[in-house]
Amino acid sequence: MAKIVGGVATSHIPSIGKAIARGLYDDPYWKEFFDGFKPIHRWLENVQPDAVVVVYNDHGLNFFLDKMPTFAVGAAPEYRHADEGWGLPVAAPFPGYPEMSWHLIESLVAGEFDITTCQEMLVDHAFTVPMALLWPGDRRPVRIVPVSVNTVQVPLPTPARCYKFGQAIGRAIASFGEADRVVVVGTGGLSHQLDGKRAGFINKKFDQMFLERIVKDPEYITRYSIADLIRETGAQGVELIMWLVMRGALTGDVSVIHSSYHVPISNTASAVMLLENQTRELVETI
Ligand code: DHB
Ligand code: FE
Repeated sequence: MAKIVGGVATSHIPSIGKAIARGLYDDPYWKEFFDGFKPIHRWLENVQPDAVVVVYNDHGLNFFLDKMPTFAVGAAPEYRHADEGWGLPVAAPFPGYPEMSWHLIESLVAGEFDITTCQEMLVDHAFTVPMALLWPGDRRPVRIVPVSVNTVQVPLPTPARCYKFGQAIGRAIASFGEADRVVVVGTGGLSHQLDGKRAGFINKKFDQMFLERIVKDPEYITRYSIADLIRETGAQGVELIMWLVMRGALTGDVSVIHSSYHVPISNTASAVMLLENQTRELVETI
């Protein structure tokens, strides 16, 4: 059976992709941010996961306002990036894992999450930037199942629903018949607003509370409504519901391996967190 070995959550700001393309790892603006990924690289090197489920929000590359699924799961043999207009280089394609995708899809629908299935799916910066941060370069050592959550067009799924969706993803992975080591990645947030009267809005106090609760008491965050989250974190800060999906999937003993918070990157309070998930079987083998 597959095992969820950990969860990673990170911001997915396009300017990170530009900085990577320019090799600005030691630039004074970027150094502290990129250094935040070094402990995660060491952990990934050690753990050597086989597969990743990437939970992200598409910003209009694959889905647009005319057709906007609340939850969508990719089931393609590979996933291509395309030019979104941010000035990012187009990333090399990412390998899919159709067998795991279809298992997730069947398990989610059986569990009353009536998701959209995508046998073709373009992936945007919210997928490609985190993947470039976790596995730099054109290396593609893991097979991927992308999961997209609507944060673009109201109504958005509630935080409580996102957490339950994550729990359903966790159960689906745990019942997959291959002995894969799986990492669940959630991308987006933390507080930011890109346009309108509150453009540039950042809420450090809320973000710090969120970073603490997401580890120890994620159910606390599920009491917020989408309107609450937009008020507290900005119109795009609501992307942090992706962290709740990731967290919902981790049902073992969860410990923080790394957490960093860096304000701002572009218009966003950026954060990255790595949670190790020790399932009962793993604890017993140590
Ligand atoms: C920025 C942040 C995002 O989450 C995004 O999708 C695009 C841009 C930013 O801060 O520039
Ligand atoms: Fe975004």
